[in-house]
Amino acid sequence: MRTNPFPTTAYIGPEYFCDRKEESEVLKSNILNGLSTTVIAIRRMGKTGLIHHVFASLPKSHLIVYLDILATNDKKEFLNNLSSAIINSVPEETTLGKKIWKFIRSLRPTISFEPLTGNLQVTIEGTSTETDSSIHSILSFLERLKKKK
Ligand SMILES: Nc1ncnc2c1ncn2[C@@H]1O[C@H](COP(=O)(O)OP(=O)(O)O)[C@@H](O)[C@H]1O
Ligand SMILES: [Mg+2]
Repeated sequence: MRTNPFPTTAYIGPEYFCDRKEESEVLKSNILNGLSTTVIAIRRMGKTGLIHHVFASLPKSHLIVYLDILATNDKKEFLNNLSSAIINSVPEETTLGKKIWKFIRSLRPTISFEPLTGNLQVTIEGTSTETDSSIHSILSFLERLKKKK
């Protein structure tokens, strides 16, 4: 049987990524200099691929959290998806991982496995005000981590 040599589902590494040298450089330099970047293009142009390509080239010491909020309908889903993305981005046994897990656990989450992807799913129950304050505390926790570097 002939297999399809063209990956179509996800970023699978630099060997399968073409060109975009200039875009990668700019994005990487912005990240390393603490600048935010907005990437705008029509769909299937390669935005997500570019982001994963640059992420793969960053120093290992960086905490990289990838969150797609397209399917996020409200603040509660945003909180749960953000916490899940954070927890899935670092193994628990590392020093950074321990710190992050300890923090997320302090928000009293329910943590479960998503059977399809094998990813962890964090659910944090609470009123609207509690949700606001959890989002706020996650963002300031990440901000504090950044400053310590
Ligand atoms: N530079 C590239 N080299 C090879 N494949 C790419 C490249 N950029 C994107 N792709 C592939 O093209 C498809 C669409 O890219 P994607 O990053 O999902 O687009 P967008 O996020 O802009 O909608 C994906 O299958 C992706 O893996
Ligand atoms: Mg995309």
